[in-house]
Amino acid sequence: MASLTVRKLDDEIKAALKLRAARSGRSVEDEVRVILREAAETPAQRPAAPEPMESVPRNQRLRPAENGRPRVTLIIGGGIAAYKALDLIRRLKDRGCHVGCVMTRAAQQFVTPLTASALADEPCYTDLFDSRSEFDAGHIRLARDSDMIVVAPATADLMAKMAQGHADDLATAILLATNRPVLIAPAMNPMMWTNSATRRNVAQLERDGIAFIGPNSGEMAEAGEAGVGRMAEPAEIAARADAILRPPQARILSGIRVLVTAGPTHEPIDPVRYIANRSSGKQGFAIAAAAARAGADVTLISGPVDLDDPANVHIIHVESARDMLDNVQKALPVDVAVFAAAVADWRVANAGAQKIKKTQGSLPQLELTENPDILATVSKLTVNRPKLVIGFAAETENLIANARSKLARKGCDWIVANDVSPGSGVMGGDRNTVHLITRDDPPDHAPDVWPVMTKEDVAATLVARIAGAVKKDVSRS
Ligand SMILES: Cc1cc2nc3c(=O)[nH]c(=O)nc-3n(C[C@H](O)[C@H](O)[C@H](O)COP(=O)(O)O)c2cc1C
Repeated sequence: MASLTVRKLDDEIKAALKLRAARSGRSVEDEVRVILREAAETPAQRPAAPEPMESVPRNQRLRPAENGRPRVTLIIGGGIAAYKALDLIRRLKDRGCHVGCVMTRAAQQFVTPLTASALADEPCYTDLFDSRSEFDAGHIRLARDSDMIVVAPATADLMAKMAQGHADDLATAILLATNRPVLIAPAMNPMMWTNSATRRNVAQLERDGIAFIGPNSGEMAEAGEAGVGRMAEPAEIAARADAILRPPQARILSGIRVLVTAGPTHEPIDPVRYIANRSSGKQGFAIAAAAARAGADVTLISGPVDLDDPANVHIIHVESARDMLDNVQKALPVDVAVFAAAVADWRVANAGAQKIKKTQGSLPQLELTENPDILATVSKLTVNRPKLVIGFAAETENLIANARSKLARKGCDWIVANDVSPGSGVMGGDRNTVHLITRDDPPDHAPDVWPVMTKEDVAATLVARIAGAVKKDVSRS
């Protein structure tokens, strides 16, 4: 077997190797062995992880984001590589992220907030004391509403401020206020990068759980300068951000087929009028998005809603209860079905084929008839019944008793009971208070009450429970 002398490599490669080895806590020789092993492996032998997670950033459970799109706040620092941050916006969006930008004052010397706003999904923020963003404590909101913060380029100055906990501008205030994962892409002159002050700051930030990507080694913007300090390429940064947002261990429903229904149904009175309800579809959409993020193969059948289609979900739009049932039946077989739609109980039996005319002194006589019961129909299937059928019970009174009797009547496995009484703000709102009741609960069992949560958090919790149940089922069979 050939041997290899590290000393004979180019200085640039040696420097990059040393940096990589120091980051992963290995000797340079061991790092070379790791690189060779990785390169020699066939793709099939390689782990599924797109990126090594050498520094799993700070703690927390990842927040579900709008329509399955993780929300990334990109902080652009005042370095010459700021222009590459514009490409990074596009790369993050290509990976299905919702991107918002923040620029430091220095960054605005290199690129304009207008360009970043045009490329990103929302206007670029620049000022801690901007009344537009601060009316609702904007820096806290930006810090918490993001699933992740990416700093690119991370200047020596920004890193020093982060290491010291400064918060004298919007970027640093967000970085201090966040409890989300932070990924930074340093970019600076090699002398700045190797300066002992920067070394101390890097070590401190690593201890604080900040994830790093780069810097890479290569030519600097300054003529004739080369070394370690080039910002990682936008594609590399986006790939690492994606790996942090969607770690393989989070794909707890990988290989599982999930069907979700959402929204209201519209039952025609005539071609222009219909009966509907106040369901927004937000809860069902959040469940579909959370299941897709967990790696499930998701079909979402939605009544008429005013929501963007979630990412990575096969969506079918329907109008009426009968359309919904028809499409549910076509989507079977699945492993798990979650019926979160507020399907109209009745439809108009004598719906007009033409617009019903208003006539003086007489009112149209609408005759109601019962709609098909989608939850009961699927729960009682003898062929193609999903292993786990979950219904939602929206109740305005006697929540638990009504939900228990609904579970028994419909024959489903779980009921997610939610209080939609006037004043709860659930219908159309962003939060939900739910109780989970399962078929296996003994009659005197206290319902599993979840705290008031956002609909996204309800979805993430439900998906985790589904994964637990599905896994148990697999280990039993
Ligand atoms: C032309 C020019 C290029 C610069 N490039 C970098 C750089 O690549 N990395 C860096 O850390 N600082 C760089 N600086 C210095 C920063 O702009 C300066 O430290 C600034 O205060 C950083 O502010 P910020 O960290 O709030 O963005 C550069 C300055 C100039 C004038």
